[in-house]
Amino acid sequence: MSLINPQAVLLPGDMAPVHLLLLALLCPLIDHCDGACAEVDSDTEAVVGRGFKLGCISCKRRSEVEAFATVEWYFRPTGEADFVQIYSYNEGVATIEHIDFSERIDWNGSKRSNDIQDASIYLLNVTFNDSGTYQCFLYRTLSYDNNFQKRVIVGKVVHLTVVAKATRGTASIVSEVMMYVSIIGLQVWLLIEMIYCYRKIAAAGEEALREAANAEYLAIASESKDNCAGVQVGE
Ligand SMILES: *[C@@H]1O[C@H](CO)[C@@H](O)[C@H](O)[C@H]1NC(C)=O
Ligand SMILES: *[C@@H]1O[C@H](CO)[C@@H](O)[C@H](O)[C@H]1NC(C)=O
Ligand SMILES: *[C@@H]1O[C@H](CO)[C@@H](O)[C@H](O)[C@H]1NC(C)=O
Repeated sequence: MSLINPQAVLLPGDMAPVHLLLLALLCPLIDHCDGACAEVDSDTEAVVGRGFKLGCISCKRRSEVEAFATVEWYFRPTGEADFVQIYSYNEGVATIEHIDFSERIDWNGSKRSNDIQDASIYLLNVTFNDSGTYQCFLYRTLSYDNNFQKRVIVGKVVHLTVVAKATRGTASIVSEVMMYVSIIGLQVWLLIEMIYCYRKIAAAGEEALREAANAEYLAIASESKDNCAGVQVGE
């Protein structure tokens, strides 16, 4: 009898997300962990004179399939028609293919492995001439168990603008303004509601007092009337 009961290893369907979540949380602690691959889009705004990471992530559909990949990056400056190759990465060997980028590109992708899923590069000392369209290509060979190999090419595009100073995205400004508007709006609304309720309660209280007084007066009046009647009857 085997020690591991296969049924205990199989996870029920609704346990899988929890399992994945745990895996995602633990992944930074584990060295070889493919479960954490996520295709995050690259930033698209670089500041002149600084460094910039051109992101290019392509996750494997099935992380258990072994793969080998090489990477090529191409660039088309704004206003030009053609792409030129600027960089290649093959079995850990990085080559800068264009003079404009010499000594200005560092590998920022997957390390210690030829199974590249992150093909990002780092651009040093960005100039205005670097704005344009970048394309990365991953040439991936997938090796399946039965000696079957499959080649796939994945391409991604990054439209880069170079600015003199870091600007904040409009979306971020709009959302900050909206946050203040909604906080102040809600507080004002709460205040108005409080005043309104206070006045309503106060008015209702006065009304109730008046009614109570009236009721008392009437009660006394009718009581005295009754008494009077009683007295009259008694006479
Ligand atoms: C990318 O490369 C730059 C320059 O070599 C380095 O400073 C940076 O830490 C790298 N980032 C990552 C995530 O590897
Ligand atoms: C990038 O800029 C730094 C600081 O300005 C400079 O020391 C370095 O030589 C520059 N590198 C390249 C490749 O231009
Ligand atoms: C940018 O390109 C122009 C025209 O090709 C060139 O004259 C200039 O020196 C370049 N600037 C930088 C910082 O490389």
